[in-house]
Amino acid sequence: MSVFRCVVFLSLYNQVCGVFHKLYCTVSENCDCDFKPNIKDLEWDLYKNIYGQHLAQDIVSEEVATFLQNKSPDRPLVLSFHGSSGTGKTLVSTMLGNHLYGSAMSSPYVHQFVPTLHFPLPHFVKKYRVELKSWVEGNLTDCGRSVFIFDEMEKMPPGLIDVLEPFLGPNHVVFRTNYRKAIYVFISTTGEKVINKVTEENRQAGREREEIRLTDLQDDIAQTLYNHNTSGFFHSSIIKKKLITGFVPFLPLSRRHVERCVRSQLCQRDSCNRSDVVEAVGGDMIYTPVAGQYFSTTGCKAVSAKINFFL
Ligand SMILES: Nc1ncnc2c1ncn2[C@@H]1O[C@H](COP(=O)(O)OP(=O)(O)OP(=O)(O)O)[C@@H](O)[C@H]1O
Ligand SMILES: [Mg+2]
Repeated sequence: MSVFRCVVFLSLYNQVCGVFHKLYCTVSENCDCDFKPNIKDLEWDLYKNIYGQHLAQDIVSEEVATFLQNKSPDRPLVLSFHGSSGTGKTLVSTMLGNHLYGSAMSSPYVHQFVPTLHFPLPHFVKKYRVELKSWVEGNLTDCGRSVFIFDEMEKMPPGLIDVLEPFLGPNHVVFRTNYRKAIYVFISTTGEKVINKVTEENRQAGREREEIRLTDLQDDIAQTLYNHNTSGFFHSSIIKKKLITGFVPFLPLSRRHVERCVRSQLCQRDSCNRSDVVEAVGGDMIYTPVAGQYFSTTGCKAVSAKINFFL
């Protein structure tokens, strides 16, 4: 076959495949049809709209890109987000869902758990373990590309999350291979002390924030998770067996980051030019440690409420 014929054949073949794929996706509910990862958009969103979090930006975009490049991963992607309140943990998990699925966070394949809502009573751990395991197993059977987000892990009853251990590692006895394509995100404030301490020491030493590396933090975060009975991972075999692919530290935000949050929200309300409000909200936050007045104790969390007050 000449090169020309070959090119024509391939392009026709692609078009026909595309038409069949579309037809198939309109009649079936296969989750691969909704799975439309856009790594470039995810990176763009992370780098443009998340302030002061170079580690989270780098780790999340790299881990997700590497994981999705592998058509047959030998284990799922397991990320664990850590840091103080209002530093962007939940926001980043939302961005992840938004750029993986056609129907974004409303995709039926993105599952969010909040312990106070789904697992409120510590003495029901046994029952929750059975329910959580069968929920995850059922959803993985339906859709290997499922995403499971566990927010506020510090409120998770101890001993519950370990029920997921067989799904998180390179386990070959779990049903088929579906479980290896899933993504798990755990979110908690556990580790905030060490993250904030390292960030403060780095600042006092006159170094750039961007010089902080994951290796400065990850062992301490893993140890804190394992040793504290309010981390959700107290004495957990998930930590012992190193089943977390990536720890993602969120650094405390300083006034300049808070003011970026304020400006961005003002712009969304067509009030970009209200520098007076930026200044007022930035000045109204509580910063710590007291002597340095440096990191916002609530990150960017109270920003929209304060804008309403000053605008
Ligand atoms: N690093 C950041 N860059 C940009 N905006 C941010 C950042 N951190 C927080 N925000 C803003 O603050 C709001 C609250 O952030 P988010 O809910 O992600 O905090 P969190 O880290 O999950 O806190 P918590 O531990 O209290 O749940 C977000 O909706 C976003 O508008
Ligand atoms: Mg949150």
